[in-house]
Amino acid sequence: METKRIRLRSDSIIQDKELQEAAALLRQGEVVAFPTETVYGLGANALDSEACAKIYAVKGRPSDNPLIVHVAALDEAQQLVRVWPPQAEVCARNFWPGPLTLVLPKRAHIPEIVSGGLDTVAVRMPSHPVALALIEAAGCPLAAPSANISGKPSPTNAEHVWRDLKGKIPLLIDAGSCTVGLESTVLDLTGELPTILRPGGITLEQLRAVLGKVELDRSADQGQPTVEPRSPGMKYRHYAPEGEIILFSGSTSEKAEKMTKYLRNKNNAVRTAVLCLEETVARLTGDTAGKADMIFTLGSRNNLDSAASRLFEGLRLCDEQNIDTILAEEIAEEGIGLAFMNRLKKAAGKKNFGPGSRYPNLTETKEENTWN
Ligand code: TXA
Ligand code: MG
Repeated sequence: METKRIRLRSDSIIQDKELQEAAALLRQGEVVAFPTETVYGLGANALDSEACAKIYAVKGRPSDNPLIVHVAALDEAQQLVRVWPPQAEVCARNFWPGPLTLVLPKRAHIPEIVSGGLDTVAVRMPSHPVALALIEAAGCPLAAPSANISGKPSPTNAEHVWRDLKGKIPLLIDAGSCTVGLESTVLDLTGELPTILRPGGITLEQLRAVLGKVELDRSADQGQPTVEPRSPGMKYRHYAPEGEIILFSGSTSEKAEKMTKYLRNKNNAVRTAVLCLEETVARLTGDTAGKADMIFTLGSRNNLDSAASRLFEGLRLCDEQNIDTILAEEIAEEGIGLAFMNRLKKAAGKKNFGPGSRYPNLTETKEENTWN
């Protein structure tokens, strides 16, 4: 299949002919990759199960991992659910459109394939003007996971999508880079207390400020799956680069000191990348920075939103550069740092360690792969 790639500017989309073409494809049961403020999504008509089946096929996604349904208006969200509790109203008023997904009891007309067999549905109103215009033009809610091949980091620009899905989908809408760069926060509102199943663009602190008590699901918290996660997506290994990630903790100077030591002693045959805040990179001493095969700067520690928006790009670049070892720094797990660390820990997870793997001498426990 030939993939058409169109470039849309956020400020001139309303009557756009190409947007109408994308909307028509969606109405015909096709999939379209489109930008959101978090990451690029691979959309299909959420009420058309055959169209949604194509999403799973294209991504190579396990069919019990449900999809988020994207809407452009509040009443559209309410029509998807059996109950709209006061907490949903509070969340929508404060954070929609934006990077927050609400899990609520689903109505019967939502296809099984969208909800992965669960009795609930995940709903979100994205804030990206192109996403909103596309949903409106299509005239239906759009089921959309991140537009990456399963197991790769979510795409934060159109080039990432192009590399993963070229030839597999009819259309990609390119609107540049995503501003948030990490996926939406998934908040479960079906239990006694609102519970974060996946930390993301809206922080725990922001949610607590308007909802009061909010819990963090343990599997979301640890970046490692528990046996029976409430969000099916948590049990899959996501965001994993080919290389091994080694995490560095402590103050900026401690992290820099430990990295310096690591780089000095490293085997030159092992391609090594540094994925760090600029203040940490600046403190790598002597010629050690030169011993790294790649340095990817996440921006300043005074702007962690920007670090979050660049993380996936950095991980993808490591793969493109055939990096074996990625030296990555930890940041405090507060604010957007919680989502950042959740993705980084998952990426550092046990993907390909152990006998028969690329790293036979590394064990699966995170601690042992942490350089402290
Ligand atoms: O920012 C985002 O959320 C992006 C953009 C495209 O909107 N989408 C995204 O979708 O990240 P995806 O499919 O990659 O991740 C959806 C997550 C998965 O962890 C999935 O298990 C969870 O949401 N989820 C979906 N429906 C659910 C439900 N009914 N109950 C619990 N978790 C659900
Ligand atoms: Mg995803």
